[in-house]
Amino acid sequence: MLNFAIIGCGRIGTKKHIQACIENADIINLVAVCDIKKEKAEQASQIYSAAVTKKPSVYTDYIKMLESENIQAVAVATESGLHYQVATDCMYMDKNVLVEKPMALSTEHMDKMIKLAKDRGLKLGVCFQNRFNAPIQELRKKVESGGFGRIFHAQASVRWNRNRDYYKQASWRGTWEMDGGTLMNQCTHNTDLLIWMLGGEVEEVNGVIRNFNHDYISTEDFGGAVIKFKNGSVGILEGTSNVYEKNLDEKLSIFGENGTVVIGGLAVNKIETWRFENENSHPFQNLPDPDTVYGNGHVPLYRDFCEAVTTGREPFINGEEGKKAVQTILAIYKSSLTGSPVKFPFDFSTLEMKGYFNK
Ligand SMILES: NC(=O)c1ccc[n+]([C@@H]2O[C@H](COP(=O)([O-])OP(=O)(O)OC[C@H]3O[C@@H](n4cnc5c(N)ncnc54)[C@H](O)[C@@H]3O)[C@@H](O)[C@H]2O)c1
Repeated sequence: MLNFAIIGCGRIGTKKHIQACIENADIINLVAVCDIKKEKAEQASQIYSAAVTKKPSVYTDYIKMLESENIQAVAVATESGLHYQVATDCMYMDKNVLVEKPMALSTEHMDKMIKLAKDRGLKLGVCFQNRFNAPIQELRKKVESGGFGRIFHAQASVRWNRNRDYYKQASWRGTWEMDGGTLMNQCTHNTDLLIWMLGGEVEEVNGVIRNFNHDYISTEDFGGAVIKFKNGSVGILEGTSNVYEKNLDEKLSIFGENGTVVIGGLAVNKIETWRFENENSHPFQNLPDPDTVYGNGHVPLYRDFCEAVTTGREPFINGEEGKKAVQTILAIYKSSLTGSPVKFPFDFSTLEMKGYFNK
């Protein structure tokens, strides 16, 4: 049993992190929950206790919580701009950390988090839960077994709608200090999947961002990029929160010399095309859409992370893996700012984008 705590009991904390603790109750003991808004932490504690008949303690100060309780690992589900501070505070107190995406908003902060976990012998995991979607796992097996032959290019698109009500729910959204724009918030998952399938080693990024239709936020509502990989493959990324009048889909398409796969649905949860020699369909072609774009991947992701902590192996998505998509999105921002392609490695922070759209 791993003694666990959740810091940040907002939308994702209360919906997906509590659910992941409930469904993994055979290996996770949720000792405490924390939110600066006490009623949110209380609500999370009650949802958990209704299912598991044990009530986690409620805190509004995570340092106090970590000093008072016997906790081995924490999940950090606060707003993105706080991940670095909260995660490093926890690691300095010798806690293993599972951090929501994006793990931080600058290359410097991500590198410091990765180094701190290594130096202190702790596990750092990142919530890219879509890697656990059943169709994505099937695709990955084909990539690993060489089923595509050479992969030429891949395309990832996120075509969703985020309106004024969405941004009104939380003032941190759509700010360079705490969030980033649609690429950093809505498109990190699919960017991660694209990079994972194309070999993980980005060489150069050429990007463009726009704020077409959200004059009440500071960040982009559209982004596009050409991503060149060290192995010669090319990735094309398209992300928008402007789709009229509701979410359309999130898609990943892979084109290789011996195979073509398109995974779509609301959130890359459904195989649309599966074409290899002697294989023209796949049983996962008609999977239902999940209830929300968050999908159901937090449950297996938590299980993997907890097993990593208890056995000493690395989590499936560790800090180095979690950094790749964020760094690529930072490269798109830097490329838009400078008007030039960005070669890896480089340093950048969302803070350098402040005022880009004169907001
Ligand atoms: N993996 C996913 O699919 C997914 C989906 C949604 C959100 N997220 C990420 O999760 C994070 C939270 O998003 P959200 O939509 O739940 O936001 P939210 O605003 O609903 O929740 C954040 C919560 O953190 C609390 N908080 C702030 N500072 C705190 C502190 N010092 N200590 C304790 N609690 C604190 C806030 O009071 C709030 O309740 C973001 O980084 C977001 O990008 C990930």
